[in-house]
Amino acid sequence: MSPVLNLSGVTVRRGRKLLLDEVDFGIAEGQRWVILGPNGAGKTTLLQIASARLFPTAGSAQILDETLGGVDVFELRPRIGLCSNSVAHTLPGRETALNVVVTAAYGVTGRWHEEYEKLDERRAFELLNDWGVGTVFDRPFATLSEGERKRVQIARALMTDPELLLLDEPGAGLDLAGREALVARTSALVEDESAPATVLVTHHLEEIPPGFTHVLLLREGQVVSAGPIADTLTSENLSATFDMPLKLTEREGRFSAFMKS
Ligand SMILES: Nc1ncnc2c1ncn2[C@@H]1O[C@H](COP(=O)(O)OP(=O)(O)O)[C@@H](O)[C@H]1O
Ligand SMILES: [Mg+2]
Repeated sequence: MSPVLNLSGVTVRRGRKLLLDEVDFGIAEGQRWVILGPNGAGKTTLLQIASARLFPTAGSAQILDETLGGVDVFELRPRIGLCSNSVAHTLPGRETALNVVVTAAYGVTGRWHEEYEKLDERRAFELLNDWGVGTVFDRPFATLSEGERKRVQIARALMTDPELLLLDEPGAGLDLAGREALVARTSALVEDESAPATVLVTHHLEEIPPGFTHVLLLREGQVVSAGPIADTLTSENLSATFDMPLKLTEREGRFSAFMKS
């Protein structure tokens, strides 16, 4: 089975700083990965590479059978769903939630001259419904709550039926109910076998939805550990990742961690 993503010795350098330092990381079809690490660990940088938006300074990145550098990124990008603040900032706030989703099918962020098929609109509406935001379909994106905006963005990321779904801190800024709704829906998504290979970036263990299979722990641009959650998400590995003695707890498929007293 060919890998969905294969990073080999990936390094990203800005000046003297190494944002990523010889990262080896692979995703196989069907896997659902969490990337955990403190602020500045390089998580967003890694997703920028995985979404064909950034080229490594050194090393090689294979994405969906294509090698970054040897492929037209504009053909590759629609095959990858990306939900991140960097995308959110480019979405016009006056556009309705439905248009924010529908326009993903055309690789554009606004809805101006393109002709839209009824089929696309129906699909966008179904995705909004799936993510519990069908009732706000005609509201301007800018007027939505943070939680609603996040779910609209995920619907948008799914609009092109991507082979790889990348979610960069989708739970950031949400209140408790918003977070729980997002965790539940994301869990339902990844537990569906037909869902794409998925990567969720977070630094909060509470945001890991049940159903994720693997975890990559990053610290200062380097891999601390990577593998199946059951073996890899341990107090010891978390302590090394966050540079603090931490105790991991798990309950009914949900995780949290506290400083060891
Ligand atoms: N253009 C840049 N020049 C120098 N440092 C940068 C640049 N872009 C990002 N960084 C730094 O690289 C580190 C990794 O960033 P990022 O991938 O956004 O981390 P994370 O998403 O894990 O918080 C951070 O310390 C950030 O400040
Ligand atoms: Mg980040």
